[in-house]
Amino acid sequence: MTQKITYKISCLPKYSEVEICSGLLQNISQYLNSMNCTFAIITDERIETLYGKTVHQLLIASSLEAHLFSFPCGEQNKTRFTKELIENKLFEKKLGRDTCVIALGGGVVTDIAGFVAATYCRGIDLIMIPTTLLCMVDACIGGKTGVNVAYGKNMLGCVYQPRKILIDPSVLNSLPSKEIANGVVEMIKHGLVANSTFFEYLERYADQILSLEPEVLKKVIFDSCRIKKEIIEEDANDKGMRNLLNFGHTVGHALESLTNYKISHGEAVAIGLLVESYLSVQLGMLNSNSLDRIKKILAQYHLPLSLPSKYPVTDLLHAMSSDKKSLKGQIRFVLIDEVGSSLKYNSSFCTPVENSLIIKALEWMNNDLCCC
Ligand SMILES: NC(=O)c1ccc[n+]([C@@H]2O[C@H](COP(=O)([O-])OP(=O)(O)OC[C@H]3O[C@@H](n4cnc5c(N)ncnc54)[C@H](O)[C@@H]3O)[C@@H](O)[C@H]2O)c1
Repeated sequence: MTQKITYKISCLPKYSEVEICSGLLQNISQYLNSMNCTFAIITDERIETLYGKTVHQLLIASSLEAHLFSFPCGEQNKTRFTKELIENKLFEKKLGRDTCVIALGGGVVTDIAGFVAATYCRGIDLIMIPTTLLCMVDACIGGKTGVNVAYGKNMLGCVYQPRKILIDPSVLNSLPSKEIANGVVEMIKHGLVANSTFFEYLERYADQILSLEPEVLKKVIFDSCRIKKEIIEEDANDKGMRNLLNFGHTVGHALESLTNYKISHGEAVAIGLLVESYLSVQLGMLNSNSLDRIKKILAQYHLPLSLPSKYPVTDLLHAMSSDKKSLKGQIRFVLIDEVGSSLKYNSSFCTPVENSLIIKALEWMNNDLCCC
């Protein structure tokens, strides 16, 4: 059965429709044949082989006009250069305003293809078909698109709503377990900051989720999308509540940057969730039983509860000071006061924390989570 969510970001004119159905990709034409346009399927080279060519053939077989474009896999290709190459290929095919981009892939593809759709001929239709768990539960919801530049990650881009987001959980069967873990961490985060019932479900059904049991998987993807949708609907202009989605990321991003991205995003954010929960305990906001629950759920999903080495606290502080939530040099954190509830500070969900307490939390991380 197809499950549907419809949402609108209030500053944007369009509604986004999210549809989730196992096996959807095999029937892709029926989701698209009411659209009178030419489809430009944009994907990466791995997904081109796994699913892109089939999707292309299915559209052609249904007498839909479609072209397939691909670029090399990986974050290092989420650049202006790749965007320009794709745009040039669209121009060479003489595609005009009646083109609809189908972004088929993980977050790298949906970010870059979404940005292409937003600017090509001043904006053309966009459909996202996410193929990683992280993209299904996070990257494809909210309309953020963009590329990385030498000055930072996602520093060029815009918010552009896809018309549809079509999710087929069965494609996750080909996704490596490390990539599944990246998505699970974001789902755990959604439960921690906004929904204790969802967190409890993730605790109870870890085995089924890890073994990609279809009905359970569909439910958690649907619920996770709904939680993110509710957060962004509350904060269309990205001024307050959206910060919740950054829980665990202040420390997580610092670890990614210090290890030169040798720690994956999921692993870094998993550690970040722990350290920022520890900070919440230190500030007297969260009880230590909740911290134990967080450790336990990360272990259930085989997420790391250890670090490969210790990291100098001053370097971590320096990396965190350039976090987007920092204000006038002061590092600010999303904190939780119980599982499923975040701490409101003034009108936002960013609490400034004294350096001495941050240092204590980072020392806890280095001493308690370090396995060397
Ligand atoms: N726009 C947003 O709101 C938002 C939110 C979170 C993350 N992001 C962005 O998302 C990106 C990370 O996305 P990601 O984790 O999906 O990484 P990704 O797109 O690089 O995909 C990871 C790898 O998995 C492969 N892959 C994808 N689907 C597969 C499948 N079904 N089977 C086998 N292999 C598959 C890809 O080819 C790639 O090699 C980052 O660039 C991040 O900035 C954006």
